[in-house]
Amino acid sequence: MNEKELFDLATEARKSAYAPYSSYQVGAALVTEDGSVYTGCNIENASYGATNCAERTAIFKAVSEGHRKIKMIAIAGGSGDKTNFAFPCGICRQVMREFSEPGELKIVVGDGRGELRIHTLEELLPESFGPEKLE
Ligand code: THU
Repeated sequence: MNEKELFDLATEARKSAYAPYSSYQVGAALVTEDGSVYTGCNIENASYGATNCAERTAIFKAVSEGHRKIKMIAIAGGSGDKTNFAFPCGICRQVMREFSEPGELKIVVGDGRGELRIHTLEELLPESFGPEKLE
């Protein structure tokens, strides 16, 4: 599974987004260390705070199936037909931190016209707080 293939899966997953309040639809797709693939979408709620982001939907699906190490996650987000470099929110970055090696997790975002940008979690969440701090 390469970056483009994973981003295409995120774009497909975005079609399931439930975003009647923001109209900002997001899809995510991830690969675990054993090569398993999970996808997710954002799921909004009339009680806005109960909303779940696409990245966390995909991560929680993976973890609930027994996968605790993510190697790569792609995100496709935007309003209507347009998607544009949907970088993950802070809460999702922290959840990614829990289930990855920060320097090894690749985060893929795209502009929907073919350009992909790839960062490590360490770049997007430097000096982070993780599970080992509590050991
Ligand atoms: N959203 C995501 O799904 N992922 C992010 O990283 C940022 C925000 C969703 C939450 C909400 O449904 C909508 O985008 C607008 O904030």
